[in-house]
Amino acid sequence: MSDHDPMVELSAGLAAIAAEYEAALASAVDEHALRTANGRFVGPQGSLTLLMKRMPELPGDRRKEFGQQGNALKQAITGAFDEHLLRIAQAIRQAELTGPALDVSLPARARPVGRLHPITRIQDELLDIFTSLGFEVADGPDIDFHENCFDKLGFPKDHPATDMQDTFFVSQRDRGDAATTLLRTHTSTIQVREMSRRKPPLAIVAPGAVYRRDDDATHSPMFHQIEAFVVDTDVTFADLKGVLQLFAQRLFHKDITVRVRPSYFPFVEPGGEVDFGCVFCRAWEGDAARTAACRVCKGSGWVEVLGCGMIHPVVFENVGYDPKEVSGFALGMGMDRLAMLKYGIPNIKLLYENDVRFLSAF
Ligand code: PHE
Repeated sequence: MSDHDPMVELSAGLAAIAAEYEAALASAVDEHALRTANGRFVGPQGSLTLLMKRMPELPGDRRKEFGQQGNALKQAITGAFDEHLLRIAQAIRQAELTGPALDVSLPARARPVGRLHPITRIQDELLDIFTSLGFEVADGPDIDFHENCFDKLGFPKDHPATDMQDTFFVSQRDRGDAATTLLRTHTSTIQVREMSRRKPPLAIVAPGAVYRRDDDATHSPMFHQIEAFVVDTDVTFADLKGVLQLFAQRLFHKDITVRVRPSYFPFVEPGGEVDFGCVFCRAWEGDAARTAACRVCKGSGWVEVLGCGMIHPVVFENVGYDPKEVSGFALGMGMDRLAMLKYGIPNIKLLYENDVRFLSAF
């Protein structure tokens, strides 16, 4: 046979692969390395694959023999590949079984847990107090009519609160007309709504968002109020004061002092603003130096908390009640301000920034 005998050359090629593959597959340390090594022989560009493609170079009577030898070698490589794949899988399993055990005492990764917003918390507390005093809870829309927000509450037509300065109008047409729609500026709309559709006796508490064109450290264009009112026969200012006193004690402190100063709201007569003894320096304890240094009440010993009064006869007439038969009181206050006082929040904006560092502190 000459050097050019293709059968000699191709057989030598098979012999070389047969001598090589076992060591190549055995040295693979992981599945990826094993597949790469395997590919070098039997992959699309593998040495055995390429060698087998040269079969047509052989004379016809030698092809069968070469084909059988090639296929046998391919089977041997595939068998070795499967063996080594199993070896690698077993090694991994063995390492798991003999390696360090899963440490079940490791602290779990904490999942962030949500909590109630300070406004929701104060609202829950306020509703608890008022419902325990026999008030029932009512609700009304954020967008309401001019007449429910102003006219039926006795605001004169040109009252400054109805200016663009203070009120967000929804419908611009016929601004100031009874049917003009606006974002309610206070929860006193609920007085009109509930009295218009029901008959006394009534004891109602109504929380909700209100809107004014106001924006600074203590004012936000949207804030929250809670309104409470009672209508019956023979309701007096003493009833109002009693509710105020009980309310202040339950929300803040059993010894808190409460005072009412005369003030004006179109829908009450007489009307008043209510101050609570400062809950920060606990002014009612009489420590004059502590109160003098208090930054919340600025040394006065009092913080303004709410507006109130006896419901004005004009309001009763506007909702179809006879002011000679019924009497009542109403009070309204900012829940944001109460939350700030109760939880010691310095800036109203913190309530609306959705900063979890702030929210998780309460
Ligand atoms: N609605 C008034 C305000 O927003 C508060 C108030 C309510 C006053 C009820 C008196 C009676 O300022």
